[in-house]
Amino acid sequence: IKNIGLFTSGGDSPGMNAALYGIAKVAEINGIKITGILKGYEGMINGDFSPLKSSDLKKMVHRGGTLLKTARSKRFLTIEGRKLALKHLQENNIDALIAIGGDGTFKGLLTFSEICDIPFIGIPGTIDNDISGTDYTLGFDSAVNTAIENIDKIKDTAESHNRVFIVEVMGRDSGYIAIHSGLTTGADAILIPESGKDFIYLLDKVKNYDSEDAFLVVVSEGDEIGAELVSSKIKEVNPNVDLRITKLGHVQRGGNPSALDRMLGIRLGVEAVKSLLQSKKNVMVGILNNQLHLTPFNEMVKQHQVNKELHELLELFGK
Ligand code: F6P
Repeated sequence: IKNIGLFTSGGDSPGMNAALYGIAKVAEINGIKITGILKGYEGMINGDFSPLKSSDLKKMVHRGGTLLKTARSKRFLTIEGRKLALKHLQENNIDALIAIGGDGTFKGLLTFSEICDIPFIGIPGTIDNDISGTDYTLGFDSAVNTAIENIDKIKDTAESHNRVFIVEVMGRDSGYIAIHSGLTTGADAILIPESGKDFIYLLDKVKNYDSEDAFLVVVSEGDEIGAELVSSKIKEVNPNVDLRITKLGHVQRGGNPSALDRMLGIRLGVEAVKSLLQSKKNVMVGILNNQLHLTPFNEMVKQHQVNKELHELLELFGK
């Protein structure tokens, strides 16, 4: 391997720069050139390549976002787009690729492998924590910390006014951010996509709510649930509640990565390069039980379901 192309794709997540730093450092030590591809697959299609040095990335290790920028590319879904991407990789003498992104990014690589035989390695980077083959995706821990910090603040005002507050957190169709941030802020109810439209325990509780205290609901975004729906359900059973909605939104995606995400980024980045040096291809580098773990792209699945233990906690604390 002489020249590794690096890119970030899909939603940015804190820790992506740390992973790039890990990759760049170990690549340089092994005499391998690294080339940044800007804006994910879009940059590959447009030929937006530039050489990277670990010294540039050292300055970014503590920063959220991604130095390489990112995008969700529709053109890469077409064969014309993928052929153009291949042409630019060949012109730039890229002989291996490391991608940091979510399941869509890895599915893209799997499809790309039909026409491109250079080795690909994936690093799971998404705040949603919704990928199998790793206990944590890069950015999840930072996003949860941001959510907690903000929910703590909301609790101060909620308690001062004895209000019902519904806080909507991100996660797409995964409830990990909601469970972690809801449990650790003492929420009265936590609603996650995995539970479907099961509002019963929330409604039972809020029916008798007498405005003598705050009532905090943490709800995950999603087609099935979301803050507005929860609000209308609450008002059906208790029309007089003083209720406010806060959607934390993209604030959860930004900010300096937590210690855990910085270390995870560096560990996964270093392992990605080592895997290439050991002739591995088309695998995602993850972490299971604090051990580095490789999962072939074709076995990796999008994981919506929070695990059994977390479900039990949800039931326990929902009572
Ligand atoms: O996948 C990460 C994520 O932040 C989800 O939690 C959220 O649903 C989505 O991306 C938002 O996407 P966009 O930044 O395109 O609005």
